[in-house]
Amino acid sequence: MPSRSAQIRLVSSHPEVYEPCDDSFALVDALLADRTNLLEHRPTLCMEVGCGSGYVITSLALMLGQETPEIQYIATDTNPYAVRVTRETLEAHGVHAELINTDIASGLENRLAGSLDVIVVNPPYVPTPEDEVGREGIASAWAGGENGRRVIDKILPIANKLLSKRGWLYMVTLTANNPSQICLQMRERGFASRIVVQRSTEEESLHVIKFWRDFDIQADAKDVVTTSSILPARVMDLLPRLSFWRSGSSNNSC
Ligand SMILES: C[S@@+](CC[C@H](N)C(=O)[O-])C[C@H]1O[C@@H](n2cnc3c(N)ncnc32)[C@H](O)[C@@H]1O
Repeated sequence: MPSRSAQIRLVSSHPEVYEPCDDSFALVDALLADRTNLLEHRPTLCMEVGCGSGYVITSLALMLGQETPEIQYIATDTNPYAVRVTRETLEAHGVHAELINTDIASGLENRLAGSLDVIVVNPPYVPTPEDEVGREGIASAWAGGENGRRVIDKILPIANKLLSKRGWLYMVTLTANNPSQICLQMRERGFASRIVVQRSTEEESLHVIKFWRDFDIQADAKDVVTTSSILPARVMDLLPRLSFWRSGSSNNSC
């Protein structure tokens, strides 16, 4: 599918900011795969948690912006350099997001409660020693503690609080994060889920999972959950690989 997101350039960088890699591409590919649904969904407020270079939030804004210019975007990151690089990436592509240097959505809970129609997140998911989580600098881009779940497990209840009744969450996970268990935990909060994109690299097997509120699940909340709602969908095999390149280069390797 041709998309302006394929033309995103890395106009700014910083040694402490995560450059787009396979996980970033998988998340944008998932959003592209679901673009028709997203356009029909007509979100009004979208947020990215952990924006890094701005590749994902810029892609999302370009993907949806042409048809729905009234959508508002927010992006957060604990890394102040990431906020700066994201600002420059957005500006270079003529799109806008409110950028906030904070931990997940700290300080925004009251303002955003029940109002986000879309949250996207490529969290720090790599299993590491616990004391590496939340350190300053580039390590915070990947350090996920035991099973890579420290930040993910903080994000899930916050997403539940901030998403609107029709809100959707797209999240990157690794097999080591136990995505089935994540889906079950979200199911207990009343969310259905499906894998939009699945991609195996030499080093890891990534899934981009979409969560949405399912009122049948909520009605059945007292039932014992015995099955996972994950439905593998090998959308990746059908999608062109998106490019992200430095100005003047066509190299999209990580
Ligand atoms: C794997 S990188 C993803 C960057 C970008 N979204 C992408 O896909 O290329 C994770 C990002 O989350 C940020 N981050 C880590 N912990 C965070 C937290 N508690 N709240 C907000 N951002 C966080 C990191 O600084 C980093 O920019």
